[in-house]
Amino acid sequence: MSDNLFAPTAIIEAEKKVFLEKLIQKGGPELHEYETFTSIVNNLDPSQVDQLRELLAPMLNENTLIGYGLKKPFGYPGDFNLINNIYDFHVNGNKEYQNWDIFFQNQAGAVAVRNRKEYFLNYCNDLAAKKEKDINVLILGSGPATDVYEFLDSKPEKHISFDLIDFDQNAIDFSRRQNEKFNGQISYNRINVLRFKPFKVYDLIWSAGLFDYFRDKHFIFLIKKYINFLADEGDYIISNFSTENPTRRLMEVLSEWYLNHRSKEDLLRIAGEAGIGERYVTVETEPLGVNLFLRIKREAD
Ligand SMILES: C[S@@+](CC[C@H](N)C(=O)[O-])C[C@H]1O[C@@H](n2cnc3c(N)ncnc32)[C@H](O)[C@@H]1O
Repeated sequence: MSDNLFAPTAIIEAEKKVFLEKLIQKGGPELHEYETFTSIVNNLDPSQVDQLRELLAPMLNENTLIGYGLKKPFGYPGDFNLINNIYDFHVNGNKEYQNWDIFFQNQAGAVAVRNRKEYFLNYCNDLAAKKEKDINVLILGSGPATDVYEFLDSKPEKHISFDLIDFDQNAIDFSRRQNEKFNGQISYNRINVLRFKPFKVYDLIWSAGLFDYFRDKHFIFLIKKYINFLADEGDYIISNFSTENPTRRLMEVLSEWYLNHRSKEDLLRIAGEAGIGERYVTVETEPLGVNLFLRIKREAD
């Protein structure tokens, strides 16, 4: 019988165990310990994942953002509540968990989520300044719609309306409550983006934190489907986590949060496979380069 069938489980070294136990006692790593903790997770042998989770069990529950990610109370990773907590820089006030949340909020992945909201706000501000009437925006996978709230709250623009699509009723309810004072300008649609049928054209079709969950086949299908509903001079902008995301292993090992990370070249190839000519396509990024934006422009005929 081959030895490989029963590859031995590597034990987490005693020194690392002591370090991890100390982190649990003090409610998470302090700034000077981030590098050591991240390096333990990034270099973990796959056979050590269960041991690591056992050692960190006291914090791997809904009291921390990392634990919430693992428990997935709404059944899927990256739900509206977690995303909204990233936007709000939520930190548990209890010392047992506090440093874990501060650590999570300072990771590149969380910063990039906040940065992509800024990208959206900047884009909407430019659009509202450029076009004086009847701006229509479609959002695929709208989640908490905190981005929409912040835009309308900072600068009440009466000539812009948002159609939100999300398949989770809890996300729809949350976004509706959050945006109550702007409800005349927002429509809420509980439906799968694969099945929604728009009945108008849009100046912006925006999707953040959704296409990373799709394989190329569905990504391409959704480009082909919605490109037909872009107004002349409109943009279809799709965010996707980059293959350069330094938080990837932390998300996977601690929160079982798996995404289809893509490079700039992957996004350009996908746009090409969806039949979009090169001159209509650019890939942009937020300041960290962790969230990429595939931007497809529709030129006037
Ligand atoms: C990670 S959140 C991002 C939310 C928001 N776009 C943001 O960036 O703040 C992804 C959202 O997409 C929704 N979603 C996932 N798959 C979907 C699908 N096939 N159709 C519609 N909504 C979907 C989820 O319910 C969730 O609210």
